[in-house]
Amino acid sequence: MLLDLDHITKGFGNPADPNYRPVLKELSMKVEEGERIAILGPSGSGKTTLLNLIGGLDYPDSGSVRFRGNEITGYSVPEMDRFRNQQIGFVFQFHHLLPQCTLLENVLVPTLVNHTRSEREEKLERASELMKRVGIWEFRHKLPGKLSGGECQRAAVVRAMINAPSVLLADEPTGALDRENVDVMADLLLELNESDGLTLLLVTHSMDLAKRMGKILELKSGKLELK
Ligand SMILES: Nc1ncnc2c1ncn2[C@@H]1O[C@H](COP(=O)(O)OP(=O)(O)OP(=O)(O)O)[C@@H](O)[C@H]1O
Ligand SMILES: [Mg+2]
Repeated sequence: MLLDLDHITKGFGNPADPNYRPVLKELSMKVEEGERIAILGPSGSGKTTLLNLIGGLDYPDSGSVRFRGNEITGYSVPEMDRFRNQQIGFVFQFHHLLPQCTLLENVLVPTLVNHTRSEREEKLERASELMKRVGIWEFRHKLPGKLSGGECQRAAVVRAMINAPSVLLADEPTGALDRENVDVMADLLLELNESDGLTLLLVTHSMDLAKRMGKILELKSGKLELK
C-alpha cells in the first residue's frame, strides 16, 4: 500500500463558530502502488485541501496519513522536506513557476539539492527528455511570463517529475491545455505509470483525462465516493 488516509478531518477557521464546517470529514482512502486515480468534485469541495494533506503541505485536524506505512503527520520539518523532495511530485492548480527563472531553470529547481556533477548531468538529461516529450524544449530559455498558460502548465508537470517521485499529485494539470495537449499529457503520465510504476492522483474537471485513469472518485460532502 502506498497511501493510507484514515478518518481525516480538516477545516479552516474557528471550530467554535456556529457556521464552522470542516471541508473534509472523516475521509478515508487507500491508494495502492502504481494506481491511477482521478478525483472529481465541485469547486470548493476540498480537492486542493486533500492534495495538500497528502503532499505534506498542510496537516489534518485529526486522522492519519500513512505513506508506505509511515505516519507523515508526525514528520519534523526537515523530514517533511526530504519526503516531499524525494517521494512527491506536486503540480499546483496555478503553476507557481518562478517568474525570474527560465523554463529550464524552473524545471531544475527540485534538483538543487543534488550536489554531484553526475547527478546534475543525469537530471539535465531527464529534463531535456521530458521537456521534449511535452513539446516545450524549444522554449527552455524563455521566462514563464513570455509563454502561454498551457506551456507553463506543461513545465510545472515536468518540474514535478524531475526527481522521479513515487506519486504525482496534480491539481488540474490540464486546465489550461487544449484537447490535443491533454492527450499528450495523458500519454506521458500513463507511460510513466507503466514504465516506472508512477502512482497518479489527479484532480481534474476533464472527463477525457479522468476516463484514462483506472479509478474515478468524487469528493462530496467531505468524503470520497467511487464513481
Ligand atoms: N487557507 C484557507 N483558509 C480558509 N479557507 C480555506 C483555505 N483553503 C481552502 N479554504 C476553503 O476550503 C474549501 C475547500 O477549498 P479547496 O481549495 O480545497 O477546494 P477545491 O475543491 O480545490 O476547489 P476548486 O475546484 O475551486 O479548486 C473552500 O470553501 C475554501 O474556501
Ligand atoms: Mg482547487
